[in-house]
Amino acid sequence: MNIKKDFPIFKHKYRGQELVYLDSAATSQKPQVVIDAVSNFYTTGCSNIHRAVHDLGEQATLQYNLARQKVAKFINAQDNEVIFTAGTTAGINFIATTWAKKFILPGDEIIISVSEHHANFVPWQQFALKTGAILKILNLNHSFEFDLEHYQQLLSSKTKLVALTLSSNVLGVINDLDVITKQAKQAGSAVLIDAAQAVAYTKLDVKKLNCDFLVFSGHKMLAPDGIGVLYLAQAWHDQTDPYQFGGGMVSQVGYNQVSFLQAPAKFEAGTPAIASIVGLAAAIDYYQANNLLSEQTTKYLADLCTRLIAGLTRFSQVKIVGNYDLLSKDGHLVSFTIAGFHAHDVAAYLDQYGICVRAGNHCAQPLHDYLKITATVRVSFHVYNTMHDVDRILVILAQLIKRGL
Ligand code: ALA
Repeated sequence: MNIKKDFPIFKHKYRGQELVYLDSAATSQKPQVVIDAVSNFYTTGCSNIHRAVHDLGEQATLQYNLARQKVAKFINAQDNEVIFTAGTTAGINFIATTWAKKFILPGDEIIISVSEHHANFVPWQQFALKTGAILKILNLNHSFEFDLEHYQQLLSSKTKLVALTLSSNVLGVINDLDVITKQAKQAGSAVLIDAAQAVAYTKLDVKKLNCDFLVFSGHKMLAPDGIGVLYLAQAWHDQTDPYQFGGGMVSQVGYNQVSFLQAPAKFEAGTPAIASIVGLAAAIDYYQANNLLSEQTTKYLADLCTRLIAGLTRFSQVKIVGNYDLLSKDGHLVSFTIAGFHAHDVAAYLDQYGICVRAGNHCAQPLHDYLKITATVRVSFHVYNTMHDVDRILVILAQLIKRGL
């Protein structure tokens, strides 16, 4: 792919060298069109939404509504099922503090997995601790996929929510959730899908995914940070309480009573991150204009993984965490350890050569505990990465392993 030129950060030197950015799972870089959309909003169109009689406010409201329509189409939802949030974490906390509070009672069960990042782990852990609900944790099989036999042992009529990631930010492949969601629904459970990692790499279709709730952030999919989406199926709108209270979500307010607007307004109190929402719409346009969720793009990213894995496996000290076959088919990141080197030291060494990777537990400590490793180095790709980036990191890693720190 030849779209690196669209991302202005790569035109600048980093530590006096070319930037090799391999940390897109932490956050993606932004194309010029997204930066321009945000900048243009502030330069010529800045206004609050839904509050003004003036045309500037009208235009901002139009852009805001258009963005919601684009997101809805992007995930095959209805417009009113798209709730703008601050990000994935906010979306999951939303469901834990509104829907779950009402529909998950003491003794009811919630299934998550060992591979959830903290955003889809801690809210449920805390919810269970506070309410007396029971948290069940799904294991992985030897192929680093969800263990379906274990799932069947966990799932029961007591299960009220199955909340799973569509793609782990450490293991880096897209999980097949078909059987899991089908069986959850048969058992009478609701389904929440955490698409924080997957949204950047796979076409989301909330109907096919058979979910009640789906969450993602903009920042991993080329959009600004501080903006996310909660898909909240219309069937739950009336029964779900607002997450926050304030302006923009009420129709009548008296001293002792209030009536709320319909969704999505009911769930979006206060002034939203309007410029970031405009940026998110621009990112979706960019994805579509460049066909970034196509099979060719999937193959391109998987080929980067394959080349990296081929290079890494030449070093006897390196152990890859994940399923080689799946990563070579639809992977977008590779996590690994190097015997004799702490992951943080590896990342700091690479940084001196202009190479950015993430090291540590990647906000997925339970997974690292489960796999009995303290920390990994994670190389995560996006559409702007090239084979040259892979070769560059392999050269510097070879140097590190040969010479030591
Ligand atoms: N979830 C982000 C990551 O994987 C922050 O690095």
